Amino acid sequence: MAPTISLKSVSKSYGTGPLAVDNLDLVMPARSFTCLLGPSGCGKTTTLRMIAGLENLTDGSITIGDRIVDSVPDGVFVPPEKRGLGLVFQNYALWPHLTVRANVEFGLRLRKIGAAERRRVVDKALATMQIDGAADRYPSQLSGGQQQRVSLARMLAVNPEVLLLDEPLSNLDARLRLEMRAELKRLHDETGHTVVFVTHDQLEAMTMATHVAVMKDGVLHQLAPPLEVYHRPANTFVAAFVGSPPMNLVGTTTALGARLRASLGESAGISTVGVRPEHVRVLSGPPRDHEFSFDAKVKAVLPTGASWTVSVLADETELYLVSAEPVTAHRGEVLRCAVAAGNLHAFDAEGSRLALESDPEQEPEWAS
Ligand SMILES: Nc1ncnc2c1ncn2[C@@H]1O[C@H](COP(=O)(O)OP(=O)(O)OP(=O)(O)O)[C@@H](O)[C@H]1O
Ligand SMILES: [Mg+2]
Repeated sequence: MAPTISLKSVSKSYGTGPLAVDNLDLVMPARSFTCLLGPSGCGKTTTLRMIAGLENLTDGSITIGDRIVDSVPDGVFVPPEKRGLGLVFQNYALWPHLTVRANVEFGLRLRKIGAAERRRVVDKALATMQIDGAADRYPSQLSGGQQQRVSLARMLAVNPEVLLLDEPLSNLDARLRLEMRAELKRLHDETGHTVVFVTHDQLEAMTMATHVAVMKDGVLHQLAPPLEVYHRPANTFVAAFVGSPPMNLVGTTTALGARLRASLGESAGISTVGVRPEHVRVLSGPPRDHEFSFDAKVKAVLPTGASWTVSVLADETELYLVSAEPVTAHRGEVLRCAVAAGNLHAFDAEGSRLALESDPEQEPEWAS
């Protein structure tokens, strides 16, 4: 049974500068696929390396299943090889003197698996990662993306119950990355392993994870299922980091912000009003009930093929809107736009999310 991983009050200092990880409490449930998401330098790799036992904790403790593997207060430290983990790191750490096949076989040999079974397992792992054509080559003869796939195949061959993956798809082209995401997600569905996956790519986190842990400057900002992170961001940092283009955040000291706040009918403590670009509608007729409407001047229209991203200026505020319908307006034209009250987000002066009356009372289906 794949284990739960929990971090309690974990901090990491590298000696100088601010804490790389700052008092982190994080529970990754058994069989979950948790993405550690955040900008460069926020402490994702450090967190993963501490779970793996490759980095000492400055404070706190880590439990894997019912076993404490690390505890500063209790002086416990279980070495990496005794933690029952599969690891794939940003730098792939393949054995340079071994062929691809021998690299993938390595862990199986250590486990004294017989030759026929080894061949079967290795062939399957290489095929899954679409790298079977390179079985007899050496790592130095592979591209970065191919090396990454060999690292993943090596981990899959050993089939550990806990998978720790640090940006394992970063060197793949767009098509392969999409395929490998689907493949990893399928493997997780089938095996029910506990996966911790580091990425700074919010789309990767949104599409693969059962849980997303959003970090910044070593601090956890939200831990929730991906759609909850998207629809109920805990604060303005999460709101702006998840989503592309990001959520529009309008200060209530601006003319538009003041009107948006007034449209909410409750203003206590609201400093920022947020709205996702896809929730800004271009009007062709009158607004609907509960819609707030405003004029916006087109700055640029950016068609993606599937949708139209438009950057506009409403009063002095820059906004993005995304439309599934073609937007034919040109630069300088004025669009009448509308936002439904139920699609507005409110944040206080510290940037923390405020509950609104318009928030659905029932948990929406994505929250289950
Ligand atoms: N070995 C080290 N010595 C000193 N400081 C380090 C070391 N490793 C990381 N840091 C610092 O700790 C902080 C967190 O680094 P970490 O590698 O965990 O970030 P990350 O979220 O994985 O970033 P990226 O997305 O760029 O990989 C950064 O400020 C980094 O400069
Ligand atoms: Mg990193």
